[in-house]
Amino acid sequence: MTPPNDLHLLIDRERIAGRVAELGREITGHYAGEAVTVLVLLNGAVIFAADLLRHLDLPLRLDTMAVASYHGTASSGQVNFRSAPKLPVDGRRILLVDDILDTGTTLARVIERLYADGAAEVRSCVLLDKEVARAAGGTVRADWHGFRIPPVFVVGYGLDADEDFRHLPDICVCGSLD
Ligand code: IMP
Ligand code: MG
Repeated sequence: MTPPNDLHLLIDRERIAGRVAELGREITGHYAGEAVTVLVLLNGAVIFAADLLRHLDLPLRLDTMAVASYHGTASSGQVNFRSAPKLPVDGRRILLVDDILDTGTTLARVIERLYADGAAEVRSCVLLDKEVARAAGGTVRADWHGFRIPPVFVVGYGLDADEDFRHLPDICVCGSLD
């Protein structure tokens, strides 16, 4: 079957796996045995989080929250909360896990909301940090990131283009590279 879009390999599965293991070690070292609630942003971070969690050697609890901000391949600038965390946030140390930091609007809104709900500390880990200007009020940098990427639209390893391609094992650029 010919895919509807041109896809070009950007980061292959071996590099992803190596970096995710490294991130796991860095995060484990940072928390040094302290309990943390890992809050995974659905749906894009599901695959990354599944791999990352197995490299965390910490007392942790896993929760998810669904947010959406993209329509097609452009950020809408608005963040819709589609589901809330199920575990308590009040007084907890939260590690947010997302697929990609782009305009920074999603992380900023989620972090604001977690602090409003009483979180003791919120840190963030994203697989990809897109080199773009952040939106006004957007999160500028995550506490941990896997890879910096140029300002291209990527799919695979959880990331989608209108819900397609999340299952691809490698991260690919959608469309032409030039
Ligand atoms: P932000 O709010 O602009 O930082 O966007 C964050 C969200 O936009 C991510 O969680 C992704 O769901 C989505 N996103 C941003 N860039 C891409 C991309 O290149 N491919 C797929 N999804 C993206
Ligand atoms: Mg997402």
